[in-house]
Amino acid sequence: MCGIVGVTADPDIGRSPASMLVDGLQRLEYRGYDSAGFALLECNTSRLLVFKDKGKIKHIVEKYRVRDYCCVTGIAHTRWATHGAPTRINAHPHTDCTNTIAVVHNGIIKNFASLKEYLVEKGHRFISDTDTEVVSHLFEDFINHGYNPLDALRKTVEMLEGTYAIAIVYAREPHRIYFARNVSPLIIGLGEGFNIVSSDIPSVLPYTRRIIVVRDGEIGYIEPYRIYIEHNNKQVSWQSRISYITWSLEESEKGGYPHYMLKEIMEQPRVLQETIIGLSTDDSIQKAAEILNNSSYIFITGAGTSFHAGLVFSYFLSRIASRPSHCFISSEYETLSTSASPDSVLVAISQSGETIDTLMALRAFRERGAKIISISNVVGSSIPRESDVTIYTRAGPEIGVAATKTYLTQTLALTYLAIELAAINNSVNAMEAKKMQAELSRAGRIVSRSLDRASKNVELLAESLKRHRNIYVLGRGLGSLIAYEAALKIKEVSYIHAEAYPAGESKHGPIALVEDRFPVIFIASPPSSIYFEKLQGNIMEMKSRGASTIVFGTTSYRNLVNVDYFVDVGEASEIAAIYALTPPLQLLAYKLAVLLGRDPDKPRNLAKTVTVE
Ligand code: M6R
Repeated sequence: MCGIVGVTADPDIGRSPASMLVDGLQRLEYRGYDSAGFALLECNTSRLLVFKDKGKIKHIVEKYRVRDYCCVTGIAHTRWATHGAPTRINAHPHTDCTNTIAVVHNGIIKNFASLKEYLVEKGHRFISDTDTEVVSHLFEDFINHGYNPLDALRKTVEMLEGTYAIAIVYAREPHRIYFARNVSPLIIGLGEGFNIVSSDIPSVLPYTRRIIVVRDGEIGYIEPYRIYIEHNNKQVSWQSRISYITWSLEESEKGGYPHYMLKEIMEQPRVLQETIIGLSTDDSIQKAAEILNNSSYIFITGAGTSFHAGLVFSYFLSRIASRPSHCFISSEYETLSTSASPDSVLVAISQSGETIDTLMALRAFRERGAKIISISNVVGSSIPRESDVTIYTRAGPEIGVAATKTYLTQTLALTYLAIELAAINNSVNAMEAKKMQAELSRAGRIVSRSLDRASKNVELLAESLKRHRNIYVLGRGLGSLIAYEAALKIKEVSYIHAEAYPAGESKHGPIALVEDRFPVIFIASPPSSIYFEKLQGNIMEMKSRGASTIVFGTTSYRNLVNVDYFVDVGEASEIAAIYALTPPLQLLAYKLAVLLGRDPDKPRNLAKTVTVE
């Protein structure tokens, strides 16, 4: 759960690799941000210089004046601690005994303890608690035994168990960066007179739009004018694997908003529109619907927000396509995958396409013969590459740790798929299906309208909620699913404890906590013909115990009584209601975070992509 980047450049092209590294690393800060470091091979001397510390990249760069150094090649790392506390010593890069080799790594070396013991016995001196340090010493050990660096890399990788994206510099080869990948993401950015390796695309975008996704099991090196990749000791031809990235640089920056989270909430009308256009022109929807139709059992999985999108899919599979399904949290895959078989399908949802639990769930189902459909926002990421069919959302890069625009684009794609299936299995006729898809194509406009109507109310509400330590978020039907996502957003960015329940369940325990002015948010979603009376009952129950009652509802719930605060999101049908109800709740979470002085883009203890089990 870290970010790595490495740059090597011809000194005559007038670029500063040190500055490219700093800028590139800052764009990976969303992957972890408890410590960071740089290893530079100094111009003329090729001396290895290492600068690292705990804390934010910006401070480390200023403290060591990293940009001022002249270097031809360098690697850098931003860390989310897994092995060893976030300290200067544990920050990457990690070096060997002679200080000529430096390594940055994202992932976990599972067998590091036994490797360390073996290397210590051979006389290697370790200074950190990390799993990564075994890599620099192993590489050194093979060099000491007469292997050339590429062979040393091959031998090193052979001994590693676990997940990794690794970049290595060696002072005797100042124009080269070695790399290796297993599970953790790694790309190469191709430049004119320079090349870059990185965990993710935003860090290379200011310099190049041409990238190659490094595949599992591949190793190699980059030089300013050369790229070498091999798999199982055989050279790989990469020329046909170059992709051209169309995301603008501005798209991966804040675009004038104070935070990425706000920018990404506001971008939803556009990205929903782009996603719907993509869906209607993409034959993967049809293929995925056929697979669902031909499968006896439908499983759905994801983590965090992606799991919540899975719940919405399960709801619509049942409501629109009359198909039962089982949606589970991906980290629970070990026991759940035992019932998978060749007539099952797993729908794996992951915006990053790299969440390790979801990837492992996919592999466990696949091993038992299940078909895999994935929903992802990142082309070429691990989960899509291991799927039978992938439906891509078109949310663009999401930098804020809290998932916002990726959530709504996921629900859009999944609802679209449920409608497609309903048309194939005759749960709805072709005309009804077209009508529903047309309704979905208005999702972007529904978001804009809802944000316009609700923003002012949400701001006032945030002011009054910011002093509370606990909030319940309750709903019925689709409303309870929206509540799960709303509670996650509130707690992760504002650190106010928010908990979601189906409203009917609140009487079975949670209501015990309710006392004077305890805030309870109700999500009132269509169809009101089914839920109005029951929600009214739940509101009364809470009110009579002193709760402050807040409703985020469609206009048809305006007549609810005993409501202290009503946020009217406008009218919407059942399949479009999520686009009216979710954005004001995301905005509420954002406003609470800002009012409480939290950084909504980088909540404490969290990382954007969780690549460790
Ligand atoms: O990249 P993924 O969709 O697989 O990520 C899954 C979760 O880590 C993610 O949705 C997380 O819960 C959100 N950042 C929360 O806002």
